[in-house]
Amino acid sequence: MQRIFTGLQPSGTLHLGNYFGALKPFLELSNDLDSMLMVADYHALTTLKEPSELRQNILNITRDYVAAGIDPDRAIIFRQSDVQEHTELGWIFQCLVTVPFLQQAHAYKDKVAKGLDANAGLFAYPLLMAADILLYDTDIVPVGSDQKQHVEYAREAAMKFNNAFGQTFLEPKERIMDGSAMPGTDGQKMSKSYKNTIPLFGSKDEIAEAVMSIVTDSSGERPANVHAIHSVFRSEDELTPLYETNIKNYKALKESLIEDIEAFVAPMREKRASISDDDVRDILKKGGAVAKERAANKMRNVREKIGITI
Ligand code: TRP
Repeated sequence: MQRIFTGLQPSGTLHLGNYFGALKPFLELSNDLDSMLMVADYHALTTLKEPSELRQNILNITRDYVAAGIDPDRAIIFRQSDVQEHTELGWIFQCLVTVPFLQQAHAYKDKVAKGLDANAGLFAYPLLMAADILLYDTDIVPVGSDQKQHVEYAREAAMKFNNAFGQTFLEPKERIMDGSAMPGTDGQKMSKSYKNTIPLFGSKDEIAEAVMSIVTDSSGERPANVHAIHSVFRSEDELTPLYETNIKNYKALKESLIEDIEAFVAPMREKRASISDDDVRDILKKGGAVAKERAANKMRNVREKIGITI
């Protein structure tokens, strides 16, 4: 069976764009594949230096994904820092992949272009991610298009290692997941950085507030931005009569959209409220034990190949 592996940065709260762009496609893909989902807490440390925030983010992202439909009995959910083999293999890759190649990484280049000092962790970030992926003989890495380059680094690390020490790692392929960009409240792609999001686990009031802020223009017959988001929840056959009977009645259309979003998110919001911190710890512990065993096996082979086993 093919294995898919992806990592999540434990940061912020999820919005509808995350759900339809990444989570839902992951769920569909993971149905009949062997899947692993890792909370990338050591990657987060490259930017986050607030222990209480990191702790809370790790718990929340795991809870969010489970509430949104990832079944921990089917997918392995674990965190990076529970499996030390990730940082160990990352170091080995750092001894193989060149500095000039790492200097081409977008995240690093952007930081430097802004005149900021990148820490060494940010510089080596792609190789820790390569270790995440390669430790588990991953076939497919479902990621957003911003992560495509990182999967190329994983292939480079695999190739460099295989050339130096013999065939050991599979070269993984990315599967780009954000093809279906969900529109935000301003009509652009929904994204935290555009401040145009609708929260996935928001209260009904928060959903209403976001929907009421959808930018409408009065030139056309129907408010395009409201309709674009509505299309994610209802077919055109259902929307046409609604929009025809409510020409120019933006308020009624927005109220209808609020009800549709609420009906969709309410069950997830309730499920999320029922998952305690201890439930999350249990899930991560269980997943961590499985991941650890797989990673330890792989690293035994790696250590022998590089000459660390004496
Ligand atoms: N870098 C990814 C992101 O920011 C998170 C990540 C870490 C990841 N390790 C991974 C994704 C391994 C896929 C595979 O979104």
